[in-house]
Amino acid sequence: MSTTTDTQTPAAVTWCGDAGGYLKLIDQTLLPGELAFADCRSTEQAWVAIERLKVRGAPAIGIAAAYGVLLEFSGDIPGNANEFRERAIEACDYLATSRPTAVNLFWALNRMRKVIAAAADVEPFDGEEALESLLNEARTIHDEDRAMCRAIGIHGSALLTECTGVLTHCNTGGLATSEYGTALSAIFTAQDMGNTLHVYADETRPLLQGARLTTWELMQRQIPVTLICDSMAAQVMREKRVQAVIVGADRIAANGDVANKIGTYSVAVLAKHHGIPFYVAAPSSTFDLSLTDGSKIPIEQRADYEITEGFGRRTAPVGCNVYNPAFDVTPAELITAIVTERGLIHPINRVAVAEHLGVV
Ligand code: MRU
Repeated sequence: MSTTTDTQTPAAVTWCGDAGGYLKLIDQTLLPGELAFADCRSTEQAWVAIERLKVRGAPAIGIAAAYGVLLEFSGDIPGNANEFRERAIEACDYLATSRPTAVNLFWALNRMRKVIAAAADVEPFDGEEALESLLNEARTIHDEDRAMCRAIGIHGSALLTECTGVLTHCNTGGLATSEYGTALSAIFTAQDMGNTLHVYADETRPLLQGARLTTWELMQRQIPVTLICDSMAAQVMREKRVQAVIVGADRIAANGDVANKIGTYSVAVLAKHHGIPFYVAAPSSTFDLSLTDGSKIPIEQRADYEITEGFGRRTAPVGCNVYNPAFDVTPAELITAIVTERGLIHPINRVAVAEHLGVV
């Protein structure tokens, strides 16, 4: 078992042991104060870890959920195909209720569902082999994400060769993925190639993924980072401190509209106004071609206290009305290019998205 995927950052998600093993996560709610791990030994613990954001970021929650299906059988080998199928599908259905917006969660669980169906059909049924096939699929999802993140880094870094400063929103690094990340992968790869960028990291209200996690990851790699409040992005752009914006995505509709962390849309509007390219970096597992446009993407609504009592201190009157959407949708027309492991989508439209993903 290895909890380290590259020299700088411990892995956000690790499966420990064989098919009867357990899931080990960096508890991201404790960062940057404490680098501690949370072990999940049941599907319910994996569900809670996803819902409470111990593990977060679209690709990482997909990977964690895939392993989470195995936890249904912790120390318990199913005796027959029906029992295996029913319990495994129930685990998939349950994990799918943990968070609604990042499509990687459903994409990974759908891959697990296909393996469940195939393993239950094998005759004679062998419980140990069935669990082994679940573990193989979860590991494959995990490995494929590693490869996608590295390829996104190569394509994304090529967009940043003329830049000295870039702005990013939320956290899109190794913590949010298998390793290296999506938008941050472009920045890490640029550094690997000798182009160390100065990163302006939006703090990302209300849960501060930018302040807590992005700065932490960049500082681990000695990449210069300056933390700003979300409301300072316009001023940073006016002062010409950044020549590009690069962010990740939680779900991309068939027309290229992008759901990402709340606040992304306003950054895209600001970038347009200032004539700064706005790039989105995401693996193909983040596309949802069943949705014609971004208006159909389900937006997670989170608890009031995340705004009124974030990190334990009350900052609004008791009883104050709160609206807390965790994501927003950036229309494709505001996005200069989408970077995937396959290369670039530019310009962005329905046909270009379909052709890029090889579905026409
Ligand atoms: O609520 P979170 O922290 O899971 O939201 C994460 C984001 O919005 C990321 O930008 C997105 O998942 C891309 S991660 C590579």
